[in-house]
Amino acid sequence: MFAMGFTEYGGTEVLRTLDVPEPEPGPGEVRVRVKAVGVNPIDWKLRSGAMAGFRPVQFPYVPGIELAGVVDRVGEGVPDLRAGDEVLGPAVAAYAELAIARAEQVLAKPEQVPWELAAALPVASETAYRMLAHVSPAAGQTVLVHGAAGGVGSVATAFAVADGVRVVGTAGEVNHDYLRSLGAVPVTYGEGWPERVRAAAPEGVDAVLDTAGRGVIEESVALAGGPDRVVTIADPGAQRLGVKFSSGLTEPRSYHREGIGRALELIAQDRLPLPIWRAYPLVEAPLAHRASEEGHLRGKIVLIVES
Ligand SMILES: NC(=O)c1ccc[n+]([C@@H]2O[C@H](COP(=O)([O-])OP(=O)(O)OC[C@H]3O[C@@H](n4cnc5c(N)ncnc54)[C@H](OP(=O)(O)O)[C@@H]3O)[C@@H](O)[C@H]2O)c1
Repeated sequence: MFAMGFTEYGGTEVLRTLDVPEPEPGPGEVRVRVKAVGVNPIDWKLRSGAMAGFRPVQFPYVPGIELAGVVDRVGEGVPDLRAGDEVLGPAVAAYAELAIARAEQVLAKPEQVPWELAAALPVASETAYRMLAHVSPAAGQTVLVHGAAGGVGSVATAFAVADGVRVVGTAGEVNHDYLRSLGAVPVTYGEGWPERVRAAAPEGVDAVLDTAGRGVIEESVALAGGPDRVVTIADPGAQRLGVKFSSGLTEPRSYHREGIGRALELIAQDRLPLPIWRAYPLVEAPLAHRASEEGHLRGKIVLIVES
């Protein structure tokens, strides 16, 4: 089958068309005919070799950790899914015509949710849900979200706002109106950001979600009043200050269904306007990686798989 992947580490030029064997679903798994794939920073971090020291890949490697598509084959012990079901969820090797997902982690795709939006939801939703679970802000409290315009930041902001939490979000100025549309108070990142946050939240900040990993942990701990009020998904060095670095590896697997379920609920209520920054055909995955690597986007980038 057709896939996009790489056989060596390197720049976007190593991401090429590949002819790979069709995957077979094991027990508890389904095979999905992919309609769309979400692009995540980990896709190009793995491709570049930047993670090779602690997370090497086996070549040929096909990226893609989330998808939306149609179930095409069902593994043993999957009573509630059948061929033809439209689903979304986390997956492996999803830059391809067919990919494998854990049956317990996929959800039915509502008819009114377009394929590209469905493919953009799984990772951002689970991660946002997980980050909020670490700090459990109450309605009426204030949360600071670093990188609020990105995939995870957008969903975390929408989840928190929906729960009655006040959100102050950092973003480039070009994304400030967007953050306002999510219900957040925008603040520009970079030099002097803590003062700008204090001015935007004179009542104080109760918790901080760092999705950007740009060296903001120390000031974030000071703002929130302690390391246990801060969580990061992008700054492993934060652990030195006693701050939780959340990788998703040790947290409950149920967060996938719960997070995606919450996102679908808010979409149905028009309260999660997650923008698709750009959608590319699968063969243009190198362009998608370049856009993601530039690091300034609003919402998500997706790849569309033509069949
Ligand atoms: N540990 C985990 O479980 C996990 C899970 C998912 C993602 N991640 C990691 O989390 C990070 C975010 O992922 P994502 O998918 O949300 O990324 P993304 O969609 O590519 O978003 C990147 C965002 O970062 C913002 N940004 C750029 N420079 C910034 C700065 N100096 N300060 C604050 N924000 C800045 C950009 O905002 P502007 O456009 O406004 O400049 C952009 O919206 C990545 O490093 C990813 O690898 C980790």
